[in-house]
Order: sequence, then structure tokens, then C-alpha cells
Amino acid sequence: MKLPKPKVLISERRIRKRVAELGNQISSDYEDQDLTVIFISTGAVIFASDLVRNISLPIQIDSISASSYTGIKSSGRVKVDSRLKIDIRGKNVLIVDDILDSGRTLLKIMGALKREKPADIRICVLLDKASKRVGQIRPDYSGFSIPDVFVYGYGLDYDGYCRNLPCVAFLEK
Ligand code: IMP
Ligand code: MG
Repeated sequence: MKLPKPKVLISERRIRKRVAELGNQISSDYEDQDLTVIFISTGAVIFASDLVRNISLPIQIDSISASSYTGIKSSGRVKVDSRLKIDIRGKNVLIVDDILDSGRTLLKIMGALKREKPADIRICVLLDKASKRVGQIRPDYSGFSIPDVFVYGYGLDYDGYCRNLPCVAFLEK
């Protein structure tokens, strides 16, 4: 596999600082409450694992797997497996994803989770590509707003690779 030379969009240091801020904000917003974090694999695995260690609340963690990209293009069709291991009825749910792009993935996941009757659902994403939005959806917590470029690293893949890159890199058009 020939990988591109990474062009840094968001450095490891900026990510670490912002993830700590998000964790503190979430900890104070849900003060004295329990939280169920549901991260969307595979892309959110790195962000979620850093984020939860910055949250000082009693939390449970579960995951949902979703995919819409083939290669570096979105197929527009979202595949979601929303079977959870834990019961979220009456719980405060925080969905954690790597990036909010068109919004199709999280709209589909929100619909599936609402049927399980949680008390509350909020969304936390590391990256927000707001210019690409098609559906009515906004993140409650967002790390960085980014322009319409293809990004990878820190959990996001470049055709299956590069999720282990510690920064967020981008491809020039
Ligand atoms: P949406 O359904 O269009 O909002 O797409 C969301 C999903 O597509 C994210 O969870 C990512 O997995 C993937 N995705 C969107 N934009 C990018 C990108 O620039 N790089 C890598 N993956 C992306
Ligand atoms: Mg994803």
C-alpha cells in the first residue's frame, strides 16, 4: 500500500488540548449523573478512547459499527449495525463519532437509538464538516470545524489505512 505523505491539518498537540477541554465540558454538563458513551466504530475508536479518559463521571461504554465510505469517497449508502450490549432505556446517551459530514450516518443511528427510549441523546464529534450537511443534525459537542477536504488519521482511515496517525492530515484536491 502506497500511503500519501501526511499534510497536517490538526496537530497531535492541538487534538490533545481540545479533547481535554471537551472532556471537562462534558463532565461539568452531566455533573452528578451517569453517562452512556456509544462510539461509532471504526473511525471513532481513537477519539473515544482519549475522550473517555478525560471524563470524570460514572460511565458505561458501548459501540455501534457503521460504514459509508468505499476508498476515499462516500458511497452515500450507510450500513449500520446498531445492536447494543447494554440497555440504554432511561439513560443519558452520548454518541461519539470521528466526523459529522453529510449527517446521514448519525441521523440513521439517532433514529435507531431513540427507539430504545433513552432519557437523552447528545452527539460529540471530533470534526465537523458543516458545508457537506444534507440532514437536520448538529453536534452538541464538536472539537474542530473543518473545510470540505478529505481528512485521515486519529482514527479516520485513508482507504483502510492510517488510522494510527497521531494527527489529523488532509489530502489536497
Ligand atoms: P456522513 O454520514 O456523511 O456524516 O459520514 C460520516 C462518516 O463518513 C464518518 O463517520 C466517517 O467514518 C466517514 N467520513 C466522512 N468524511 C470523511 C473524511 O474526510 N475522511 C475519512 N472518513 C470520512
Ligand atoms: Mg465513521
